[in-house]
Amino acid sequence: MTDSARARLDYGNLLAPGVEGGVDPARLEGDLAERFRTAHAAVGARRAAGDLGFLDLPYATETAARVKEVADGFGQWFEDVVVLGIGGSGLGSVAVRDALLGPFWNERDDEGRDHFPRLHVVDNPDPATFGRLLERLDAARTLFNVVSKSGATAETMAQYLVARGWMEEAVDADRARGHFLFTTDAEVGALRQIAEAEGIPALTVPQNVGGRFSVLSPVGLLPAAVCGVDVDALLAGAGEMEERCRAPELKQNPAAVLATLLHAADTEAGCHVHVLMPYADRLRSFALWFQQLWAESLGKAKTLDGEEAYTGPTPLASVGASDQHSLLQLFMEGPRDKVVLFVSSPDPERDVAIPGRHPEIPSLAYLGGRTLGELLDAERRATAEALRREGRPNATILVPRMDAHVLGQLFMLFEFATVYAGALYNVDALDQPGVELSKRLTYGLLGREGYEAPDLGEGDPRWIV
Ligand code: PA5
Repeated sequence: MTDSARARLDYGNLLAPGVEGGVDPARLEGDLAERFRTAHAAVGARRAAGDLGFLDLPYATETAARVKEVADGFGQWFEDVVVLGIGGSGLGSVAVRDALLGPFWNERDDEGRDHFPRLHVVDNPDPATFGRLLERLDAARTLFNVVSKSGATAETMAQYLVARGWMEEAVDADRARGHFLFTTDAEVGALRQIAEAEGIPALTVPQNVGGRFSVLSPVGLLPAAVCGVDVDALLAGAGEMEERCRAPELKQNPAAVLATLLHAADTEAGCHVHVLMPYADRLRSFALWFQQLWAESLGKAKTLDGEEAYTGPTPLASVGASDQHSLLQLFMEGPRDKVVLFVSSPDPERDVAIPGRHPEIPSLAYLGGRTLGELLDAERRATAEALRREGRPNATILVPRMDAHVLGQLFMLFEFATVYAGALYNVDALDQPGVELSKRLTYGLLGREGYEAPDLGEGDPRWIV
């Protein structure tokens, strides 16, 4: 990869002096390098044990070929593709759609979408959203891609049942089958069972790829490919980043620097809130994808040795410049408990010139002759500098442009950083035991076989009415 195609990390504003809680640069060759070496070995051991399947996804050429075959054939029979999937089974697809297809994809006409389908991703089983979406769809031209690794998640299964019933009412029961495509585990779960029983096509989520690490598997690739995204470029970018992030030397490895400095900021300097703030609307969904990745992977009650941990920085998705008029006041002057990670995302091809009008009005005159992209970029740079001057730690990921290759790099950078961070916190970044209890209580409340109805009256409610 040429240097000009690379995502680059500027971590100068995470280093002392001047930045409170900033790391002494000498430590990058001292104790932090050593700390990372231990984490690197732990991640290497998990990789060797076959636990980190997401690291191999960039090289899964057969899978990519199968995804493209389905997307280019079957996928193009439809005008609307609806992904039903939640958490790691939905957030990556939204991130890809918004970053690469750009704003208003679903509102564009056929030509504006190069005749690729619209892409809807429905995660929350909010009846208002789902009901309204169904009202807008033409069943005969709609494909539901039901995505659930476990094939058991209540929200997704409920949506599948609603969608299936709706489709069967609109076209006949036999033809309804042809409007479904599943993405699920190779063996277990209801979706696999139905796929086998009814001949519904099903793509596979590798067993060793967890939900929030699955965007580069068929989970994220199929919806991307169906809308014309260059999935080969996405995977190539991810692969190139994967190679960079394998390096055992801290200062050579962008995921290592990210993980090590964010871990140190949290555990040594009380910077418990990690803000991801791209300066681009189209990366808003990427920031939400990161939020889930960082939260669900690092928020853990126990260490790998079974000791009490209660670890986990709080990730926060933010967008510049919008949040300069919302959250930035808190970042600048509120508690010194945050690190802000900026992402630049220039889009020179679609930049918009600002006409030079009203030269007599100084508050407008300076904008004339600039572009909206220049304004956004200046605001990002100014905000990073303002934070630095206030001693507030921040860092910037600079990307040359936003395309599939760059997005692939970003996905892999953060996924790799997450498993390194897990090793630094000494927790299992791959599990999520904390989400189980509410699932079991929900099953009990709805009468699922094998789950007892819970008594919810044990608290002590105090109402104001
Ligand atoms: O990251 C995870 O593992 C979770 O967020 C899952 O993706 C989410 O719970 C959905 O699970 P499933 O794909 O099994 O429906």
